[in-house]
Amino acid sequence: MNDGYRTTARIAGLGRFLPEKIVTNHDLEKIVDTSDEWITSRTGIKERRVVAEGEGLLDLVVRAGKAALDDAGVEAEAVDLLIVATATPEQPIPATSAIAQPQLGVVNAACFDLSAACSGFTYSLNVARQFIATGAAHNILVIGAECLTRYTDWSDRKTCVLFGDGAGAALLQPADAGEGILHIDWRTDGTLADFISMPGGGSRFPPNSRESIDQGFPFIKMRGNETFKVAVRAMTELSLDLLKRAGVQPADLDLFIPHQANQRIIQAVGKRMGLSGEQVYSNVHQFGNTSAASIPMAMVGAVEEGRLKRGDLLMLTAFGGGLTWGSALIRF
Ligand code: UT7
Repeated sequence: MNDGYRTTARIAGLGRFLPEKIVTNHDLEKIVDTSDEWITSRTGIKERRVVAEGEGLLDLVVRAGKAALDDAGVEAEAVDLLIVATATPEQPIPATSAIAQPQLGVVNAACFDLSAACSGFTYSLNVARQFIATGAAHNILVIGAECLTRYTDWSDRKTCVLFGDGAGAALLQPADAGEGILHIDWRTDGTLADFISMPGGGSRFPPNSRESIDQGFPFIKMRGNETFKVAVRAMTELSLDLLKRAGVQPADLDLFIPHQANQRIIQAVGKRMGLSGEQVYSNVHQFGNTSAASIPMAMVGAVEEGRLKRGDLLMLTAFGGGLTWGSALIRF
């Protein structure tokens, strides 16, 4: 069932952290021309978490990371690699992972951030798996975290109803073939880079430039309808391809966790893959789209709700800016 690696990576622990503040659809009705009815029927989202004044990505990263270390029962000093997947870092320089290192106590870890938008956690799992498979690392902490609401244009109803903040983390350790990550793969299509973008805040339109602010560049923009169609097709095709390579039937999956962007996308992917409603996990109603945090946050939720147990056959699939996508088949 596995893809030929003798050593792979298993998820030894999970953790998540959510900001306390909840913003409901009714709250949004007061600031933008929208309705609970529209948001619910088009996205499935009912509420989302939003970072408080003075809070930043670092706070979410550190708490989620510590929770995953506790869950795995691993000492922070034993971690040899820390990867933070995010599109909304604490600050441009240095990497959020480096800033978080002392607070997490992962003093022996090399630290870097990975930028693949909503696919960031799945991409990081693939990177971590390679380091573990080659024996270069033994304990890797992967954290997917976002403060998307800091880059949300609260006057744009097409995007402001979609996003939320949060963080999820996984501690990865070596495992024999047959457990842990069985198959994992990723894709990028840069010809569609402008489907989801934030043009301002980089080197072309730096955050300190008047042009960047005047033209509203430092906000997330999305061609929602076109993105929707590619998302459904891309996640379905790659996931079915992995199942085929593994010789696994969709019905054999205990749980399927797709990126939590839109309930209609989640349902469409599940249906096209031939999965039953019980096989497909969703918490988008609670948290909205938290990009790189969405999948690890969902895994924690699934464990807490008793829907994901040790030994289960789990599939993850993510899709986001880049455009990027990735899927993983895991014996949990
Ligand atoms: O995380 C990365 C991946 N992201 C995704 O995969 C997201 C993909 N896209 C989507 O989830 C959906 O396309 C959206 C939820 C963003 C939009 O849903 P849609 O069914 O594609 O709606 P639409 O953009 O085609 O808009 C339909 C109508 C428009 O009005 P007109 O032009 O038909 O008069 C919009 O102006 O709905 C209007 N609209 C709204 N109305 C009330 C758009 N946003 C809102 C709103 N409240 N918040």
